[in-house]
Amino acid sequence: MKDLISLHDLTSEEVKSLLQLGIKLKAELKAGKEHHILKGKTLGMIFTKSSTRTRVSFEVGMTQLGGYPLFLSSNDIQLGRGESIYDTAKVLERMLDGIMIRTYAHQDVLDLAEYANIPVINALTDLLHPCQVLADLMTAYEHKGRLEGLKLAYIGDGNNMAHSLMYGCAKAGMDCAIAAPEGYQCDSGVVENAKDDFKKSGRELIITSDPVEAIKNADIVYTDTWVSMGQESEKEERQKLFMPYQVNGELFKHADSEAIFMHCLPAYRGYEVTEDVIDGEHSVIFDEAENRLHAQKAVMATLMG
Ligand code: CP
Ligand code: NVA
Repeated sequence: MKDLISLHDLTSEEVKSLLQLGIKLKAELKAGKEHHILKGKTLGMIFTKSSTRTRVSFEVGMTQLGGYPLFLSSNDIQLGRGESIYDTAKVLERMLDGIMIRTYAHQDVLDLAEYANIPVINALTDLLHPCQVLADLMTAYEHKGRLEGLKLAYIGDGNNMAHSLMYGCAKAGMDCAIAAPEGYQCDSGVVENAKDDFKKSGRELIITSDPVEAIKNADIVYTDTWVSMGQESEKEERQKLFMPYQVNGELFKHADSEAIFMHCLPAYRGYEVTEDVIDGEHSVIFDEAENRLHAQKAVMATLMG
């Protein structure tokens, strides 16, 4: 593993060992154990989109491992004024030990990883959000005691979260059902890749436009915003069209009676999820948010340690 661009690129064993390391680092942090795994190392953090969880968890995680996080907003660096990805990669590899990037075009992250001879971590593109799914799998494991054989149902937009969840479920030996409206379903290339992964794992992938079919007997119910970063101009249209995909108490009843509710956050109550579900007893959203820190420490320790 040189980079973390997509969970599709990792073996099941690599995913499992990242999760195990995340769990270990979490326990050690709670026990007060200090780490110097990344002493003297610097992570550049390029953001061309907003962030709360990703920025804070990478900065704090890097600091906890003894390294230094350097926040690079695209408003302030020359990349934002048109300097090429190639030149940026070649300059940054001379000074940094790793690069984390959150941006729009997935190809920009692939290019950065190709040109930079240091690890590159995908912290969200329009296509994928692998770091979030590592934290999600870790959270599901903590609550359910296993991953193998669980069913995750994702209800909503066939977006970056849906894509990375499909990949993550396949690698973790889970079943996955995605319910999205016609016209807003997952990227066909990602679905084809995911189908290959599910064939290897022997688990089931369901792609449907029926939320009730997807959520039936699910152990984990997941949703995400209907309006991702960059889609603000489609907000009103999307909010109307996605209403039948709202995760509310009525829909949640079709899941397993001990199902957990997950959301990558930020959440918009009254749209993709209602208060009774997201603030109810089945919700584990803040464990997920915390686990961004521990899961990404595992990623950084593995790639940069
Ligand atoms: N879930 C997530 O990536 O949150 P941020 O956009 O706040 O980083
Ligand atoms: N799908 C959302 C995820 C935010 C963490 C977006 O891309 O904006």
